[in-house]
Amino acid sequence: MISVDNIQKSFGEKEILKGVDLTIQQGDVAVIIGPSGTGKTTLLRCMNGLEKADGGNIRIDNVSYDYKKSSRKQLLALRRKTAMVFQHYNLFKNKTALENVTEGLITVQKISKTDAVQTAKQQLKSVGLAGKEDSYPHQLSGGQQQRVGIARALALNPSVILFDEPTSSLDPELVGEVLSVMKQVARRGITMVVVTHEMSFAQTIANQVVFMEGGKIIERGSPRDIFTAPKQAATKRFLDCVYQPFVYQI
Ligand SMILES: Nc1ncnc2c1ncn2[C@@H]1O[C@H](COP(=O)(O)OP(=O)(O)OP(=O)(O)O)[C@@H](O)[C@H]1O
Ligand SMILES: [Mg+2]
Repeated sequence: MISVDNIQKSFGEKEILKGVDLTIQQGDVAVIIGPSGTGKTTLLRCMNGLEKADGGNIRIDNVSYDYKKSSRKQLLALRRKTAMVFQHYNLFKNKTALENVTEGLITVQKISKTDAVQTAKQQLKSVGLAGKEDSYPHQLSGGQQQRVGIARALALNPSVILFDEPTSSLDPELVGEVLSVMKQVARRGITMVVVTHEMSFAQTIANQVVFMEGGKIIERGSPRDIFTAPKQAATKRFLDCVYQPFVYQI
């Protein structure tokens, strides 16, 4: 289980996260939606310790982290519980698909090269990239690069994978293949937190949809509650702008 409690974060004078709470059960998919600049990326980065929050706690399984008090050792323990999939893939350009996946296993998890290669091959296969192990990022499409990013996250065997707008850099025709891999990951029972604008995807796989605005969670609920009967005016306004389920049904 993941429990985020009262995370606060400012950049300079600007308060970005104003006390965010989140509870996600093991194996669940939480989708975070909300306008640009609202703090969604900052929240994910605080959750995996890439960014240090000013206050609050996070607990992932047996690892508990207090942003004000905890040590560097506890920070590393928190990082090992999470893996992140980034909007712009964040692959090493001078490494092959296989090396991109083995890198963290060898350097961070201190796994032997032989075992790391075996795990990486399995995970690349699981995202449909068998045969692409020796390709460099520039030889792969955006969708394939993002699937390497997902394989890299899976290989770390984290308690939760945090996805930050994983499809928003992709050409429209490549979005489907990444969403379909993410659905398979969800079906494997891996806990996921996904920031996305793909509302129909959210409707299909989320157990919980969270609407954030201005550094706060305004509303949360089942996809059905949020998409068909939002209670808060801000949620309604946002969905009216971004969510037009019938737009393609000409
Ligand atoms: N490292 C930083 N230094 C200063 N300000 C930052 C930093 N990172 C984020 N911000 C600011 O924090 C606010 C929230 O940013 P964040 O990237 O978390 O929003 P977001 O909800 O992910 O937006 P988007 O949907 O555009 O990705 C923005 O005003 C942004 O400019
Ligand atoms: Mg963002």
